[in-house]
Amino acid sequence: MQKQYGDIFQIWIGSNHYYVFCRSEHAEKIYSDRHIFDRADVRTKTFGLIAEDFLITLVGSKYKRHAKAIVPMLRKHRFKSQISIIINYVDQLIHIWKDRYENQNNPICTCILTGNQQLMLDTFTRLTFDYDLGNLKHLSKLAKQSNSEDKIQPSELGVALSIWLDALTRVATNGMSSFVNDFLLKIDKKYQNALKTLKTNAENMIRKCQEEMDPNNRPVNLVASLVSSLQKDEASEKRKPETEQIGITKKELLGEVLGLILGGYETSSTILAWFIHFVSKKSEVQQKMKEELKQQGITKETSLNNFDLLDRCQYIDCVLKETLRLATTSFVSPRTLLVDTIIDGIKIRKGDTVVSAFSLMQRDPRYWKLDPTQFIPQRFFGVDAPDVNHNPFVFTPFGGGHRACVGQDLARLELKVIIIRYFH
Ligand code: HEM
Repeated sequence: MQKQYGDIFQIWIGSNHYYVFCRSEHAEKIYSDRHIFDRADVRTKTFGLIAEDFLITLVGSKYKRHAKAIVPMLRKHRFKSQISIIINYVDQLIHIWKDRYENQNNPICTCILTGNQQLMLDTFTRLTFDYDLGNLKHLSKLAKQSNSEDKIQPSELGVALSIWLDALTRVATNGMSSFVNDFLLKIDKKYQNALKTLKTNAENMIRKCQEEMDPNNRPVNLVASLVSSLQKDEASEKRKPETEQIGITKKELLGEVLGLILGGYETSSTILAWFIHFVSKKSEVQQKMKEELKQQGITKETSLNNFDLLDRCQYIDCVLKETLRLATTSFVSPRTLLVDTIIDGIKIRKGDTVVSAFSLMQRDPRYWKLDPTQFIPQRFFGVDAPDVNHNPFVFTPFGGGHRACVGQDLARLELKVIIIRYFH
């Protein structure tokens, strides 16, 4: 569409209409003014059908009420003491792969994505909800029993999450009205069963947290923060206007747990699978990563909870950055206008939806000195690197502005630790 119509065009996806903007100055405007551009209401109409109480679908006071319990718990320093947990899960996955593929002639690994998905599911839920889903333990048993020709089967929760995710993709892209999609979901038995499995798992996590939580101490992780934000008297809170309500309801808590698991595992595992794909084809990149680890004295025994040490692995940062640039997990940042405005001479009205097409800019040759279709981590490495001073608005894999990804700090940390561990 961009090739045919240029950097600004309109698109209908079913009943949803979007203005698409593809240049850095457009992104700058869209991300810079929170009083004009807010979370797109198409998210509420689509994601909202599947996860109505998840942060990504909320706006206004309800968004602030939820963000207060979630955002501070996702800062990087909160996870410093849990790095060994990440390492432990990565090692489990490496063992599973070894059990399945070592000593095989010309093995072809058919489970890079599913393996990484189970890794991220276990890691994310343990780090944020202090709950071991046991997916990798389950895979480990299977890997020891079965022969490597069999595909790895995800656990019951993994299957339920992928059915849930498929439903989300469907309602986000089929363009049908919310009413029709809502009806289709209600009669979709597979989806309803998946929802039951998800709810049971989320309820178990919440119950475990409630049993273990000390009410006199400050919450130590995300689930504790959410549980301690539960409203004492839901009925009386409900009678207040939204702007005055404090805390979250039990139903909202369940919605957030499910939404955050989805947000926290799906994107990161996709990025990991792409990382393996790109790097496996570039022996010189592998070599440079190994050299950097050696230079920094990082061995299998080194504790990675030293953030200064992690920060010094700058080439590995570039590899991660390049993976995020090329392997986009979402394509655009959508925003609905709160007031009329003009973008690049185009009048847009209150209630219209605009999108900043970051995935196009991340591959647009006008913004990159080295061929943007190629995987070249070197483009970012060092003060004189060709693309180190790229325009910040053309590289936004986590979106931007006040509705940028709240999990990006955690995602970058998890990905870096996992990548380093893969190299040992
Ligand atoms: C590599 C990993 C990840 C990528 C590429 C990614 C990407 C994104 C993108 C593109 C958005 C939309 C931003 C916008 O509209 O401008 C987003 C929003 C969001 N992400 Fe992530 N994400 C990742 C990891 C995570 C993790 C680990 C979590 C959970 C802790 C998370 C939770 C969220 C939430 C809650 C939102 C909605 C924020 C809001 O609406 O205010 N994401 N993410």
